[in-house]
Amino acid sequence: MAPLRIALYNSKGGCGKTTLAWNLAMGLAHRAPTLLVDADPQGSLGDWANWADSEGHYAIALTDWTGLRQGLPPEHHYRVYDCPPRLDGDEIQAILEETDVVLLPVLPSPLDLWASRRSAELLKGLQDQRPGLRGYFVLNQMEAHSALSRASQSAIAAIGLPVLSARVGRRAIYRSAALEGLSVYHMGKRAAGAREEIEGLIEEVLK
Ligand SMILES: Nc1ncnc2c1ncn2[C@@H]1O[C@H](COP(=O)(O)OP(=O)(O)O)[C@@H](O)[C@H]1O
Ligand SMILES: [Mg+2]
Repeated sequence: MAPLRIALYNSKGGCGKTTLAWNLAMGLAHRAPTLLVDADPQGSLGDWANWADSEGHYAIALTDWTGLRQGLPPEHHYRVYDCPPRLDGDEIQAILEETDVVLLPVLPSPLDLWASRRSAELLKGLQDQRPGLRGYFVLNQMEAHSALSRASQSAIAAIGLPVLSARVGRRAIYRSAALEGLSVYHMGKRAAGAREEIEGLIEEVLK
């Protein structure tokens, strides 16, 4: 069976692609063998690429698109791609062409949403050609208890890409886990809330 392929994509930097790719991959790896593909040559996942755990997680670094074209090992149930912060280009084309689900992380502000518009439009163009392709905004770094502003809601409505109902909060634990080269699945009790929201994301994506 072909793996389920999930790409974290948004030309805007700093919206959470790498953080979410890493933690999603770790959560998926608790379910089935998962391959994390670092498609960002400037990304930080490469630093973790040789890191392996006892749960069957396997991370690789790919610094150029020829690696993708040569074919990735097929034996994983899930494949998570961390895209570079660019709108398009060879790696991104190669990834988006073969992906099942595209997640566009976005900070919950109208400015960030508008800055993500071109990525969302490119994705919607691909969906016109390939209706099976699923694509969603993922609201990242939500402040606790804060609702989306009306301006953000209208930006979302105008862009026309659905939003996952699972949201990711702004939590220091995401940063401290990353600093240690770990995911929120390795941080014990203090990361329980973060794990819960990553699990929520995963469940919605696997639905
Ligand atoms: N939910 C979050 N809570 C707190 N910090 C976050 C969260 N998501 C991302 N960050 C931090 O924001 C910064 C940018 O995130 P990153 O995943 O590197 O974005 P991108 O890969 O899109 O450039 C990093 O320092 C990361 O630790
Ligand atoms: Mg990144």
